[in-house]
Amino acid sequence: MYLTKEQEEILNGRFGWAAAKALEIIVKVGEFLGADSLVKISHAHVSGISYSNIGKHGLELIHEFFRKGGKARVFTTINPGCLDYSGYSQVIDDAYRTEQGLIDEALSGMGFKPIYTCIPYYYRPPVAREHLAWGESSAVIFANSIYGAKTNREGGPLALASALTGYTYRAGLHLDENRVVRVRVVVHPEVNPSLYGAVGLWIGEFVKKTPVLLNTPKVVVHRLGDVKNALASSAASGNHALVVVEGLTPRNTYMADIEENIEITLDSIDEYLANPPPPERGLVLGYLGCPHTLPEELLEVVRLLRRYGPVKRGRLLITIPREFASKYWFLVKEAKSLGADIAAGTCPVVSKLRGRFDYVLTNSGKAYFYLRRVHGLRVGLTSVKEVVEYVCGRR
Ligand code: F3S
Repeated sequence: MYLTKEQEEILNGRFGWAAAKALEIIVKVGEFLGADSLVKISHAHVSGISYSNIGKHGLELIHEFFRKGGKARVFTTINPGCLDYSGYSQVIDDAYRTEQGLIDEALSGMGFKPIYTCIPYYYRPPVAREHLAWGESSAVIFANSIYGAKTNREGGPLALASALTGYTYRAGLHLDENRVVRVRVVVHPEVNPSLYGAVGLWIGEFVKKTPVLLNTPKVVVHRLGDVKNALASSAASGNHALVVVEGLTPRNTYMADIEENIEITLDSIDEYLANPPPPERGLVLGYLGCPHTLPEELLEVVRLLRRYGPVKRGRLLITIPREFASKYWFLVKEAKSLGADIAAGTCPVVSKLRGRFDYVLTNSGKAYFYLRRVHGLRVGLTSVKEVVEYVCGRR
């Protein structure tokens, strides 16, 4: 692989052990993937920082880089941890407070911005054709598809390595020749945006090449939350990192060479989704905020709670970026006063749950996909409105 003089110096230890080790990892992975050089990035987003997911070995790896002088060489943000950083959630367990605290100390010691969220684009929206090294599949697909930025789906350690060096390998979606749409997916008009979690899961499961999504109702352009849900879901059930959305994806960031046409109808979704109804008895968790809520989504939930609340059946958990607990304290306070449980900087997929739930009702295709696997829960998928109506005893 061709390396510049500066990259050679990093590799030879001029900037310390941590940067050298990190670049060595990137070069090895890049060579394996056929990259001929490295590319400078402007933002690293590090996933895999929740103790609940990475355990003792992950903690030790992060701490080793910290102890041996690791420092961010580029703007770096971090994904959710396993704690509710507002400290009030009754649903998220704080069993790993000490261990997560050690991870958090190392990350902020290395200069990473402690945003603890899977929507880093809310804090620093990427620009078209900008190179990034992001972990967190839902954020990666959003950056590529909505902003036209260029990032592969990095694992936590590789995104960490990019943070400590400012580089990633030039391969995959960093190259224009790999940003080619092959499948035209037409969403039938009867499939309304509240079903976009299911649409995303369907695409992840059945569409293997890069798709372009057509005929998405105009309303979606104004409701980014629905698109966020669809993209995150397709990245959860499949390997997608780029789904072109007609009318949203910047035109000069992909090419088209269509090989196949597919239509998604209500029937195809019904056939695919095993969507068990809530049980007659047992504790139900309503869950919203996967990926974390945008401000307008949080406001929408509060409005629904005003209309249907308070929560009187099971629990309603809403997960938000850490900063929202203080920035949107008035919405958080009102949601809590109407019986919602708010967790900031975490989510049920990357943390332990307090207590045992018999069923989860969510609007998120990604949560539907992972909560069954991670916590072995029965999960139903529906719209935001129906989740709120259910926990408020209106259904
Ligand atoms: Fe974010 Fe957790 Fe969902 S990290 S994308 S809320 S699984």
